[in-house]
Parts: sequence; C-alpha cells; structure tokens
Amino acid sequence: MNHRHRRLRSNESIRQLVQETHLSPGQFVVPVFVEEGNNIKKEIKSMPGIYRYSIDRLGEELEELLQLKLNKILLFGIPHQKDEEGSISWSDQGIVQKAIRYIKKKYPEFYVIADVCFCEYTTHGHCGIIVDGQLHNDKTLENLRKQSVSLASNGADMLAPSGMIDNMASSIRDALDRSGFSHIPIMSYAVKYASAFYGPFRDAAVSSPQFGDRSTYQMNPANAHEAMREAFSDIKQGADIIMVKPALAYLDIIHMLRQNTHLPIAAYHVSGEYAMIKAAAANGWIDEKKAVNETLISIKRSGADIIITYFAKEWTKWFQS
Ligand code: PBG
Repeated sequence: MNHRHRRLRSNESIRQLVQETHLSPGQFVVPVFVEEGNNIKKEIKSMPGIYRYSIDRLGEELEELLQLKLNKILLFGIPHQKDEEGSISWSDQGIVQKAIRYIKKKYPEFYVIADVCFCEYTTHGHCGIIVDGQLHNDKTLENLRKQSVSLASNGADMLAPSGMIDNMASSIRDALDRSGFSHIPIMSYAVKYASAFYGPFRDAAVSSPQFGDRSTYQMNPANAHEAMREAFSDIKQGADIIMVKPALAYLDIIHMLRQNTHLPIAAYHVSGEYAMIKAAAANGWIDEKKAVNETLISIKRSGADIIITYFAKEWTKWFQS
C-alpha cells in the first residue's frame, strides 16, 4: 500500500474540510475580577491585558465582551475587608453580590458564574476555616452553604466551587435546593491540582496563603487515578459540570475523564498558562496568535467542552471577525 497522507494536506481548502477540532467562542468562559472601590481599572502586572475593575467601571469590559458575543463570565471578587472566616463572602454587601446585581440589572445578556471559595476573603488566605493550623473540612462546608445561597439569591446563574473541600458539591446542592434554587447548576472544580500555575491569579486576587500551601486540599500533580476518584465523587454528589484545572499540564486527565464520564467537562486555562504565553510573545520568542490557537485547540481536542480562558477576547478578535 502506497500511503499518501499528504493528499489531505495539499491546500487550505482540503485542510479545512478534514479539520477535526473546532473552537467555538460560545463555549468560552471569561474570568472577570471585580474590586471593591471606585474608579478602578488596574492592570494585573503578571497578566498583561487583564484588569481588576470596580463596579462603576465594569461596564467598559462588559460592553467589549458583548460586542464579541462573549456572554459567559466567571466572577472573582477582591474585597477590601477580610477576616478569619471570610464572612463578607456571604453578605449582600459582598463585592461579588453587588457586582452580580449590577450586571443582572444593566447587562441581563450575561450568564454569570460565581466562583465559590474563601481564599480572597480570609486574612490567612486559605480556602476555608482554619482550626489548629489545618483547613477544617466540615466547618468550611457550613460557610460554603451560606456563600452559595447568598450568591444565588443575588442572581448568580451558576456556581463554581473551587476550594477542593470534600463533599462541597453535595452540601451546596442541598443548601441550594432547600432555598428554592434547585434550578441553579454546579460546575465543580472537581479535579484541581496544587499548581504553580496559579501564581499570577494570586497576585490578581490577593489570595496567597499566608502560611503553608494548599497541598492538603488541592491534588498532587502526579496523580491521575485520584483525579477519577475526585470526579466520580463530585458526580455522585450532584455536580452538573466537572472541571479540570489547570489545563495544559493535565490534558491526559481531561482525556481520561472524557473516556469515563458523560458529563460536560470544563477546563480552566489558568493565569500562569496565560502569563507564559504573554511573556514569551513579549520577548518575540513565539508567535502569540498561533500559540494561543494551538493551546486552546489542544484543550478542546483532549475532550473539554467548556474552556475558561483569559485569551477568550483575543482569540475571538483574531479568528472570529
Ligand atoms: C481559588 C481559585 C484559584 C484560581 C481560581 N480559583 C487560585 C488558587 O487555588 O489558589 C486560579 C485561577 C487562575 O490561576 O487563573 N479561589
């Protein structure tokens, strides 16, 4: 047999016809940082092109997103008040609650996903309650229930718990159902690794742990079977969408999940993955446009349906208009 694979690569038209994977901006989720205060539009140093906005200037970003038809956002809050428990995170006066009310009123076209966690709100920077120097699982669940009900009652369309607290999905599901929010889906950060690639986000959200690290709750990057246990546990608990995070170093995990589940899979292409491409491109070391496209395509090809990425706007501008 005379194999001629190049027949299907000989020009742009035939290459288009046989392309297997396509990105659709309808499946992008854009992370948005909202900060307490006024007149803030502050670029995050390690994430060129990404800003923290106060609510009075958030419209600048939202209008740009709407023009690109990017209407799914994942909200992160930067409060000006922190305490041991992160209690502002379940108050109607919390920054994310205020932002959701503002968005729902002025820009109802948006589908608003709220990250559910405490690291941005606690003085110690851990994702829950600390007892004797350790993150206390079940006390944290109580606060997760309160935060979730508060976010839903202020108008969040979907909740995305990111703390890697055992049983967070079932606790939140139960709290939502009891409060009249059985229609609100949960996108669980089911498989979240203790990763170095969150560095720029922690600058952005001022959420670094003040002692120790997150390896007693986030996963060891070396483990894949454990990822399946985590994912199946969240599926049993009623999660609607399963997330893998970060994306690029964990494409095998996305692929493995795709083979083993029928739930939608989301991949979070995180801050450090964004920063790496930006830094290399700024030095002229890689072609940014091609590197971004290749990266996002690889995430989709590995099996992700939803891609959460800081490159959503740029990709859409480059390839969709
Ligand atoms: C925790 C949270 C983190 C990110 C999203 N939610 C950081 C962490 O676990 O320290 C990271 C996102 C990114 O790096 O882009 N609330």
